[in-house]
Amino acid sequence: MDQAPSFERVLLTGAAGFVGFHVTQALLDKGVQVLGIDNLTPYYDPALKQARLDRLTARNGFSFEQIDISDYDAVQAAFVAFRPQVVIHLAAQAGVRYSLENPRAYAASNLDGFLSILEACRHNPVDHLVYASSSSVYGANAKVPFSEHDGADHPVSLYAATKRANELMAHSYSHLYAIPTTGLRFFTVYGPWGRPDMAYFKFTKAILEGRSIDVYDEATMSRDFTYVDDIREAIVRLAGKPPQANPSVDGRAADPATSSAAWRIYNIGNHTPVRLDRFIAAIEDACGRKAIKRHLPAQPGDVPATYADVADLTASVDFQPSTPIETGLASFVSWYRDFYRI
Ligand SMILES: NC(=O)c1ccc[n+]([C@@H]2O[C@H](COP(=O)([O-])OP(=O)(O)OC[C@H]3O[C@@H](n4cnc5c(N)ncnc54)[C@H](O)[C@@H]3O)[C@@H](O)[C@H]2O)c1
Repeated sequence: MDQAPSFERVLLTGAAGFVGFHVTQALLDKGVQVLGIDNLTPYYDPALKQARLDRLTARNGFSFEQIDISDYDAVQAAFVAFRPQVVIHLAAQAGVRYSLENPRAYAASNLDGFLSILEACRHNPVDHLVYASSSSVYGANAKVPFSEHDGADHPVSLYAATKRANELMAHSYSHLYAIPTTGLRFFTVYGPWGRPDMAYFKFTKAILEGRSIDVYDEATMSRDFTYVDDIREAIVRLAGKPPQANPSVDGRAADPATSSAAWRIYNIGNHTPVRLDRFIAAIEDACGRKAIKRHLPAQPGDVPATYADVADLTASVDFQPSTPIETGLASFVSWYRDFYRI
């Protein structure tokens, strides 16, 4: 997308995070001013977050505040001072498995923190609030591809439940205060500057160090792995398309994807599920070494397969993710070698 965005000031939470770093770069490339917010939580190596942040703070148009979004007064003050037109809310306690270990971290960042963002948008009107949801909201759904028009009311982890709660909380604020909100269900995002807690990062590290990898449920597990550049492109396009309220929507028609309020949700996925064994083979090719595999059963909270229906996304912004895993993983491994000097 080459044309200039329709907005000039974006407040972006989770700016030191993986997706936030990439989206901020894309916005700065387009001349948008970005106020980044992050609390630099040590859930994974803070040095990687700091390295992302150092890149961003070196650029014109970027400013940063270290704020925990569950601190509403600090969030409110940042909104008052910066007056964002668009808010892109990516800060969250991420990770499915960690939500079994430390559930309260999810309540603090994903529920209380999300409420701070909604309240700040209520008291400082914005043109559009875009926020990260997750493919994990589909939980126990077995019908594929996963569609926004199907229900998503059977989460199988607390992480997923908090993300689904965000969609519902956003709906109430869109309805009550006419805040246009768009929720984005990302499907397993990977790429350069990625997250050390995710499998592709751990596999690459272990393979390059000659150590074994733990492979859960290789025979049946498949994921709609989505390259971060595709996620970034979709977010930037959608940010300029706030949903409109539509009073003609019939509240009796049970379509979970539509509303009379200015509220939408979109899948952002590659629409190409890949089995875990093929994914590992692509990492092996990119590393030029074979993995030593330790096979383990599926983990509690994991779903066996994810697969995005992206018809709504394509209809809305004329774009759908399409980077093949071989291309995306080669970029990731190349970044990894360069960043860690291997
Ligand atoms: N990466 C994926 O595969 C994926 C898939 C689905 C959904 N998501 C969602 O997308 C968003 C971005 O994910 P990511 O992969 O970049 O994760 P990330 O962990 O790299 O980034 C999230 C950032 O939010 C910050 N943060 C966490 N709690 C905070 C708080 N209370 N206050 C302020 N900052 C806080 C963290 O320090 C981190 O830098 C998250 O909402 C995540 O749940 C990611």
